[in-house]
Amino acid sequence: MNTPRFRLWSSVGKKILTGLTGIALMAFIVMHLLGNLTLLVGADAFNGYTESLHELGWLVIVAELGLIALFGLHAISAVQVWLDKGKARKQHNSLMRTKGAPSKQTIASRSMIVTGAVLLVFVVVHVIQFRFGPSIEQGYVAVVDGAPARDLHRLVVETFKNPVWTGIYVAVMLLLGFHLRHGFWSAFQSIGALGPKLRPLAYSVAVVFAVAMAVGFLILPLYLFLFASVPSGAVAMAGH
Ligand code: HEM
Repeated sequence: MNTPRFRLWSSVGKKILTGLTGIALMAFIVMHLLGNLTLLVGADAFNGYTESLHELGWLVIVAELGLIALFGLHAISAVQVWLDKGKARKQHNSLMRTKGAPSKQTIASRSMIVTGAVLLVFVVVHVIQFRFGPSIEQGYVAVVDGAPARDLHRLVVETFKNPVWTGIYVAVMLLLGFHLRHGFWSAFQSIGALGPKLRPLAYSVAVVFAVAMAVGFLILPLYLFLFASVPSGAVAMAGH
């Protein structure tokens, strides 16, 4: 179990797992943003989109369980890689008897742990807020294709009419941008997809991708806060 080969496989395996789950989560984030952009079109478009997802029935449950597994595996393997790096650094420092300032790489991976932890807390709060927030039974009813459906648009608009929530979301979306900027290229690096020639290109694509995601997501709360009218019969709520 404790052969050098196993140890090598183990640390490389954790890196690959972090990279693969990160890439899958980035794919989810792109799909989530594209779907959420229907918020800019209006209530019918957004409620129609979310209802069409929920009509997939058990497939949604499978996708949601898959997402929980992805977020969980990504967080656990990323923390493990970070701890391994810390141990290796300590050994190296004691061997070399040096105590220099932390390298750029150390600062980048430390900031990934911090932004990752904030994002994980955000996702839990966010899912409780929207996925498990008020529904048809609490009066959040819209009509989609002639049938009653959950008025998720009303919930999202009410949330972002609250400046505190809009502020929190804008701040978290900026952190998401920072996380993706480093995460994008390091995920592809970890799975061995980047040779020396591709690396500079990956840095640039990472910046474009991170800015596109952060801006795309933070436009939504800002737009709704500034321009959406509070849906009729709804009160701008402070607490959910
Ligand atoms: C302004 C930005 C965002 C808005 C308006 C938004 C909106 C929503 C809404 C309305 C739902 C509930 C969907 C439903 O019940 O059908 C949801 C679920 C979810 N969101 Fe977001 N979201 C945003 C950003 C994010 C970000 C940045 C992440 C990840 C880093 C994220 C991850 C999730 C997850 C994991 C779910 C649960 C999916 C499910 O259960 O089907 N969201 N979001």
